[in-house]
Amino acid sequence: MKRIAIFASGSGTNAENICEYFADRNDVDVSLIFTNNPMAGVIKRALKLQIPVVFFDKKTFYHTGKIPQILQNEGIDLVVLAGFMMLVPPMLVEVFPTKMINIHPALLPKYGGKGMYGHFVHEAVVNARETQSGITIHYVNEHYDEGDIIFQATCNINPADTPEDVARKVHRLEYEHYPRVIDEILMRR
Ligand code: GAR
Repeated sequence: MKRIAIFASGSGTNAENICEYFADRNDVDVSLIFTNNPMAGVIKRALKLQIPVVFFDKKTFYHTGKIPQILQNEGIDLVVLAGFMMLVPPMLVEVFPTKMINIHPALLPKYGGKGMYGHFVHEAVVNARETQSGITIHYVNEHYDEGDIIFQATCNINPADTPEDVARKVHRLEYEHYPRVIDEILMRR
């Protein structure tokens, strides 16, 4: 059995989509959902899906070994960031090298880095009059959005598209590809 832990800070639609993708599988289990945000929508989704939630604060994440400890104790094979907004500390990257992946809502290396998340990304893309955006799935290292790229998919942007339109197109790509790419990574190991 391969075990996944998801980290999410917000609404959690990707987290839910990943859980649903693997729900009928007996070889893959979404074992835990971690969040740093007590108000995150993902908590309600996790309760509905009956997946245990681990809440942690900034101090615990950056200044203790508690999170890597839980991941190791639970035998987690892959850490999946899905709308997780904190920079992962080196301590965690060291424990889970190439076992931690993220999805970014743009075509990296463009529109990545500190402060580039969620709607800020789509606003920047529209303001720059890009004709394409998309998703990037990549390994996580100790820098924002800089780990090796695993997969990208693109969508077209029309001149009249708003940031909300782009967000919708990007979310569609995320739902289509993220679970499948996770599955492929797990099956390769
Ligand atoms: C997703 O679009 C994800 O790519 C993005 O946040 C959204 C979360 O949506 N992540 C980042 O911007 C990370 N830099 P969700 O909570 O509905 O899954």
